[in-house]
Amino acid sequence: MVKVITYGTFDLFHEGHYRLLQRAKALGDYLIVGVTTEKYDMERGKLNVIDALMTRIENVKKTGFADEVIIEETSGQKISDVQKYHVDIFTVGSDWTGAFDYMSDYCRVVYLERTKNISSTMLREQNRRIQKIGLIGTGRIAERFMPEAKLVSGISTQGVYNPRTESARRFARKWEIASYDDIEAFYRDVDAVYVASPHQTHYAYIMEALAHGKHVLCEKPMVLKKQQAEEVYAYAKEHRLILFEGIKTAYCPGFEKLLGIACSGTIGHIRYIDACFTKLERKDTRELTDKKYGGSFTELASYCLLPVIKLFGTDYKEVHFDTIQDGNGLDVFTKASLTFPKGIATATCGLGVKSEGRLLIAGTKGYIVAEAPWWKTTYFEVHYEKPDQIEKYSERFLGDGLRYEIKDFLNMINGNDKSAFKLTRGESIAFADIMEKFMKEQRRI
Ligand code: CTP
Repeated sequence: MVKVITYGTFDLFHEGHYRLLQRAKALGDYLIVGVTTEKYDMERGKLNVIDALMTRIENVKKTGFADEVIIEETSGQKISDVQKYHVDIFTVGSDWTGAFDYMSDYCRVVYLERTKNISSTMLREQNRRIQKIGLIGTGRIAERFMPEAKLVSGISTQGVYNPRTESARRFARKWEIASYDDIEAFYRDVDAVYVASPHQTHYAYIMEALAHGKHVLCEKPMVLKKQQAEEVYAYAKEHRLILFEGIKTAYCPGFEKLLGIACSGTIGHIRYIDACFTKLERKDTRELTDKKYGGSFTELASYCLLPVIKLFGTDYKEVHFDTIQDGNGLDVFTKASLTFPKGIATATCGLGVKSEGRLLIAGTKGYIVAEAPWWKTTYFEVHYEKPDQIEKYSERFLGDGLRYEIKDFLNMINGNDKSAFKLTRGESIAFADIMEKFMKEQRRI
């Protein structure tokens, strides 16, 4: 019996897939089809797969060509599958020509002519109108946003607005997008807005963008007052618009995995969380010169509060701040201590003091530790009472990681709300509430 194996995502099952499977089956007597998991597709940068794994498997089965369906979870799996299933022929479409020649030590490799003019990518783009996003602000984070947005299919960066028109023009030239002097013209041309302007301007831009019927992705901290957060979310909800606070960690796969393990009971009941993020900044940066809105807490606390609020919830009993200030009266180091009904937490931020920058989640049976940069989670460990009992977890974090939040934002715009739990309105409002308490205590608002 000649055994054949082939692999694919088989998203939005189309004629190209059907013909590939038909010809793959005809190469032998028994066809095994490997269908990729969502996680594997994410890891290899295929971020916009629409159909769930079960749907994709069902579609492959429905063709009647597959004698067996397996799932493909990792990049090195093909060689072991070939050996495990005693495969004679490995086949894929001609778009992969040459890529799997290394398999020929184990079986025959056949590249089948790809069906012309059809692909999942094409269908995804046909089904969904491309969302045109415009940027407000041209700072460092906007610079990072541009290459990341290009990696998410279904979104295109239309243009940029900055009241300082020369900055907008420079940015637009660099990234080959439009620059707008007139904000009304900017709103006319875009479907969604990425707000990456100074913190204190977020609220006004969010309200303005929403009032123009635009979806909004806003950099953290979204707003600095609880009531403003409630207001923007209520307005967005009422007008059926998507509003996202862009804390990239919340959307990255490694952090999702870490939260999953933390909530699974592996370390028992969580009693203490210590999240620290420090970064030494040049003295002349906005973060260390803006006496009202600069400082370590407004800059970094969103990251540190994220695991705390995600795991302990939004109902904290008390929050207390200890700060070290520089000559300007700006906090260069802040420790926020929070108490919850069943646990305590500290969120530590530094711009002028360097510390270890670790995330620690302590429970009744063990603890999780993720070292800096845990906010771009790629690796963490679970430790127990016995010092040598350690479980290690790793996950990919690609590029600057903004692609994950952009993808989730786009999915939400397209009516897929499976990512909404990653950062809820209530959690985002809690961040604004804590920010406001801090700003008031510092007599800055
Ligand atoms: N395939 C094909 N003809 C097409 C499209 C795909 O023969 N027009 C083959 C691929 O070469 C592969 C298999 O079908 O062997 C599964 O491919 P997959 O990556 O799932 O499909 P694509 O449509 O290429 O997906 P995407 O656009 O997301 O890359």
